[in-house]
Amino acid sequence: MKIPFNKPFIIGKEIDYIRESVRSGHIAGDGLFTKKCHSFLEKRLNARKVLLTTSCTSALEMAAILCRVGHGDEVILPSYTFVSTANAFYLRGAKLVFVDIRPDTMNIDEGLIGDAVTKRTKAIVPVHYAGVGCEMDAIMEIAKKNRLDVIEDAAQGIGAAYKGKHLGTIGDFGVLSFHETKNCICGEGGALIINSQRCIERAEIIREKGTNRSKFFRGEVDKYTWVDVGSSYLPSDLLAAFLYAQLENMDKITKRRKEIYDLYSKGLKPLADAGVMELPVIPSHCRPNYHMFHVKLENKKVRDGLLGYLKSKSIHTVFHYIPLHLSPVGRSMGYVKGRLPVTESASDRLLRLPFYYNLTKPEMDRIIMNIKKFFK
Ligand SMILES: Cc1ncc(COP(=O)(O)O)c(C=O)c1O
Repeated sequence: MKIPFNKPFIIGKEIDYIRESVRSGHIAGDGLFTKKCHSFLEKRLNARKVLLTTSCTSALEMAAILCRVGHGDEVILPSYTFVSTANAFYLRGAKLVFVDIRPDTMNIDEGLIGDAVTKRTKAIVPVHYAGVGCEMDAIMEIAKKNRLDVIEDAAQGIGAAYKGKHLGTIGDFGVLSFHETKNCICGEGGALIINSQRCIERAEIIREKGTNRSKFFRGEVDKYTWVDVGSSYLPSDLLAAFLYAQLENMDKITKRRKEIYDLYSKGLKPLADAGVMELPVIPSHCRPNYHMFHVKLENKKVRDGLLGYLKSKSIHTVFHYIPLHLSPVGRSMGYVKGRLPVTESASDRLLRLPFYYNLTKPEMDRIIMNIKKFFK
């Protein structure tokens, strides 16, 4: 039997809620369940304002517009991230300044950010890799000192916290993903967290194609019109209905994911102790959401060997980001191999193990047993 890397799941009333959404007469954006998701997330994350979006990519694009990033501005971000973290700002003409990551958490190395700041720097985009918080105190201090915006890419971070604050609620903006590979899912989906009151109205406008339709629906204006730039960033209420059922079960999802995480940690500890692999690191001040379980092998050859061996046993494991600075677009900006050594090494050595809500104990035993067999 094949063990996939990821499997979408239904946990509660997803289908009932989709029916209810249809019955409500509004399945376009900002219907009954979109509002329920907004209130749930605002309360749960202790966030000023949350707006569902069609994806985390859309939420990042909205954040870039809200920060008024434009040609000539520089944006500091890790190279070890998904393409959307960079594209949102590249689309607005910004120059991307890639900074290396920490070897332990693989989050942006806060100690290197200061040197990357110039007069043209507009924003910092920390990415909370695997739902483990970046060193936000240090990042916020640099941002404050240099008057920079901070957009937290918490695509993988729903429910996780840094020093008691939910990821995505510490900077000026935060973004979440509900893609089918994340902890809480709706296929494709995301959210923008807006942490400053003065940006809320503009965010609503940008999300509604640049119009003040949200105000119109609230009865605050008698007709709506084009008032700013924008696009269609709001998801159908059908997706929100699916998502709401998942959000209601967030604690159950986290509990199950913790069990999976702990089983992997325990099962692979002997190999880590023998120096064969590195296991994930979670600093004590970070509350994780158990989004991912990754191991780091000695080198690329061993990593690819293990991936191929597990594939031959019908176990699907995957590597993660190809560093953006070494992508064709990154290279066109002048980046070369060797520039970000920790990023390059992590990317070569990292392997992500199957991780999804319905992963069973026997399946995990099989995965761990085969990893051990490979190293015998
Ligand atoms: C760090 C990071 N940012 C952004 C995204 C984009 O998320 P979405 O697929 O919801 O657009 C991802 C996707 O996995 C991601 O890992």
